[in-house]
Amino acid sequence: RVQREYANVLVSRPSPGVALITLNRPKALNALNAAHFQDISDAMKEADEDASVGAIILTGSERAFAAGADIKEMKDKSFAEAYTANFLADWEVITKLKKPVIAAVSGYALGGGLELALQADILLAAPSAQLGQPEVNLGVIPGGGGTQRLAHLIGKSRAMELVLTGRIIGADEAERWGIGRVVREGSVVDEAVKVASDIASKGRIAVNAGKEAGLRFEKRLFHALFSTKDQKEGMAAFAEKRRAEWTHS
Ligand code: CAA
Repeated sequence: RVQREYANVLVSRPSPGVALITLNRPKALNALNAAHFQDISDAMKEADEDASVGAIILTGSERAFAAGADIKEMKDKSFAEAYTANFLADWEVITKLKKPVIAAVSGYALGGGLELALQADILLAAPSAQLGQPEVNLGVIPGGGGTQRLAHLIGKSRAMELVLTGRIIGADEAERWGIGRVVREGSVVDEAVKVASDIASKGRIAVNAGKEAGLRFEKRLFHALFSTKDQKEGMAAFAEKRRAEWTHS
């Protein structure tokens, strides 16, 4: 299998079964413009579809995981443009992958950068990590799921403090609040490779099910219900314009 080349991300296989995707737009502190995000998205999907991959790591540089959406690129957008193109809708890419994703965060993970990391299944942070949602300082709000994912993870009060003040927190405070784990010894990427290798060594079905038990649980239960008599009866009754006779089976 030939590995595709990307202009704004590096892809490697640091260990069997592990795909490492490194954001690589260093001059802009990995700010995410459209071309960068397309590369991230394509590289993640490529790894997800590769049968030899069991887990995916997303990382940035020592200085920045990602400093957010590219402010220079979006600054002149009108409401109509943002709304019509559904700007940022494709940022949910990580949540749609089947394989587990580990975010290995060093340096700045701000705005859309933090929102990207928060989509990962596991977040590992270096002591240098600086996390925040500074959008309020730009006259906007998080647009990549930050308000909701943070509230879910650290509770409403802390999430609102971050979103409404734009305060940037360090790795220790983030860990105390429940955003991932700080890797204090050695490199955060090396630790991510260890965790990813461990995951890649397990049975894929169980790993997939473990991941799905979160966000996709609802959908899978929905699918499972198609094995019940009640589903057949309920839908048949609707189609035949009559009351359903439930047998609870
Ligand atoms: N967009 C575009 N360019 C960015 C950027 C961003 N989000 N973050 C950094 N850069 C660029 C800088 O403009 C600078 O470019 P030049 O060398 O061409 O001037 C380069 O990266 C290096 O940055 P600094 O010189 O600013 O580096 P610093 O060490 O002094 O500061 C920083 C680092 C505190 C991260 C600062 O760059 C900063 O505040 N960046 C913006 C962070 C931010 O507001 N992110 C949220 C964006 S909005 C968003 O993400 C919306 C959403 O919800 C999806």
